[in-house]
Amino acid sequence: MAAKPSASEPAAQTATRQQLNQMEQAWNDGAPLIKRWLGEATLAMLSMANVKPGAHVLDVAAGAGGQTLDIAERVGPRGFVLANDLSPDILRFAKRQAAAAGHQNVEILASDGENLQIEDARFDAVVCRMSLMLFLDPLQGLREMKRVLKPDGGVCTMVFSAPDNNPCVATLMSIALQHAGLAARDPYQPGGLFSLGKLGLIDDLFSQAGLRAIATTRIAAPFKLPTARDYVDFVRASAGLVAQIVQRLEPAKAQAAWADMEQALSRFETTDGWVGPNELLLTAARR
Ligand SMILES: C[S@@+](CC[C@H](N)C(=O)[O-])C[C@H]1O[C@@H](n2cnc3c(N)ncnc32)[C@H](O)[C@@H]1O
Repeated sequence: MAAKPSASEPAAQTATRQQLNQMEQAWNDGAPLIKRWLGEATLAMLSMANVKPGAHVLDVAAGAGGQTLDIAERVGPRGFVLANDLSPDILRFAKRQAAAAGHQNVEILASDGENLQIEDARFDAVVCRMSLMLFLDPLQGLREMKRVLKPDGGVCTMVFSAPDNNPCVATLMSIALQHAGLAARDPYQPGGLFSLGKLGLIDDLFSQAGLRAIATTRIAAPFKLPTARDYVDFVRASAGLVAQIVQRLEPAKAQAAWADMEQALSRFETTDGWVGPNELLLTAARR
């Protein structure tokens, strides 16, 4: 349930709390869509990291915990999942989701994935879904993943591939920047959604982190919805990077930006509904 402001709470805190409540609502509402979008790729990620019944698994940058539930399901009651994220608020949401699904084997840890407050060699497997590209120093994130893995433990990360293979995300970002009067960005810039999308780059980072048996698989993950409008509504509600840029515009300008996005993305409407192409990289390795 969303937290309510108290009468004595300062205005700034109330605003932050309201934003968090909005994000929490968006994550809650978006969870089934994300599961449909990333479900298959997530199961592949868990297999590639060798997540098995009874395993102890670290879920780095777990966010609202969509994949945490899949891991908890797979490891079963004898296994254990530690969901990590920078944000304690989003982790509380993940913890509640896990409890609601009846998983007693999920704990949370708010800490920087580049500096995990975890002892060495604790986990059988480590996964990181759709987050490593956002790290300030993804190599340091991978070094930390290696450090907390048991010898021969498995790791698998999921990131966006190149922008050309993810035209919806690339289109949304370019229209948002255009409407905000901001210069187009290098799509591969560090910390951006495509920063690890250049083929071979993530394998090099895994290798520099000292991991072995490295293999990257490209996987198609189309986003399917009834219409382009539904996709734009999902992005609007998500409070992600594109929504943050557009929400800073005055209402009429923001409305125009969303309308342009819908128009541009309607090219992916088919007789079977809207099918937005996406391509992901799953990179697996062993300690
Ligand atoms: C796009 S969300 C993905 C969340 C989740 N893994 C999923 O696939 O639904 C990215 C998450 O990465 C987290 N994050 C970004 N940088 C991080 C870091 N250095 N350490 C831990 N978490 C980080 C953010 O707080 C956010 O929750």
